Amino acid sequence: MGKVFVTRQIPDAGILALKKAGHTLTVYKGDGAIPRKELLAGVKGADALLSLLTDKIDGEVMDAAGKKLKVIANYAVGFDNIDLPAAKKRKIPVTNTPAPEVSETVAEHAFALMIALAHRIPEADRFARAGKYHGWGPMMLLGVDLYGKTLGIVGLGRIGKAVCERAVKGFRMNVVYSDPHKDPAFEKQFKAKYLPLEKLLQQADFISLHVPLLPSTRHLISTDEFALMKKTAYLVNTSRGPVIDEKALERALRTNRIAGAGLDVFECEPLIDCDPSDTLELRKMENAVLTPHTASATIEARQAMSQLAADNIIAVLKGKKPLTPAA
Ligand code: DGY
Repeated sequence: MGKVFVTRQIPDAGILALKKAGHTLTVYKGDGAIPRKELLAGVKGADALLSLLTDKIDGEVMDAAGKKLKVIANYAVGFDNIDLPAAKKRKIPVTNTPAPEVSETVAEHAFALMIALAHRIPEADRFARAGKYHGWGPMMLLGVDLYGKTLGIVGLGRIGKAVCERAVKGFRMNVVYSDPHKDPAFEKQFKAKYLPLEKLLQQADFISLHVPLLPSTRHLISTDEFALMKKTAYLVNTSRGPVIDEKALERALRTNRIAGAGLDVFECEPLIDCDPSDTLELRKMENAVLTPHTASATIEARQAMSQLAADNIIAVLKGKKPLTPAA
């Protein structure tokens, strides 16, 4: 049976599963992300590391764990916090948690942001709370419909597909998508149309980003891309912050180059070398809706992530293949 180091308290499904499988667990109990020093000390001698997206897992951490480390199970769909080449060099498999529940939850959140923008929900809430509501008005806080509009999905993976399904079945939107791989069966099923990114940006009324953070997707959306968008377009990001050049986004929002943005992720989040005051301007903008990286924050999704991270560890420590390898 193995020693498992868990870098932060997580929902209990996976913890219970690991204990049931006979493994010994050490869970970092501190408030917030584990400090580097404690991560390096805590992982020592572990057979498995259950890490979070707030932990930078590089060669130093792997070496601090020592020769026994057999698997790094990241409690997230994204794994840009892990140095994959360093893990490969040390022959340590890395896993992520693309549980079906997570795709559904993140897709719901992308829609929550779209609806919040289109129906001006946070603005209307602020208005009502400020005591400004003195009676119904025909021109008060007018928004736009999602129905009948074109949604551009950038990245047609599991989450992109779950967003597409909701758009077509739930909101009767038209879907265009851009992805390195075309999916003709999916196109047929949802009447979705493949477009190169530039064309998608020109045609879409709503744009939702669902790409992993890679060197090729960093600042995928910057000044040139905003210049292509409709002035009435809304941009939603539930993927990773650095996919959007945030300074270019601020300019686009300030100058009404686009109508609004719904952001769950930011260029400046823990792990990224930046100054949190960078987001100050964004925080003041009426045409931005912001959530604190909570797109997967439902009990159902987080329990599924916990269970899948544990199942990956249990499989590898039994000498089996990981269920959801990260790459
Ligand atoms: C992920 O899973 O990558 C999300 O960003 C957090 O759940």
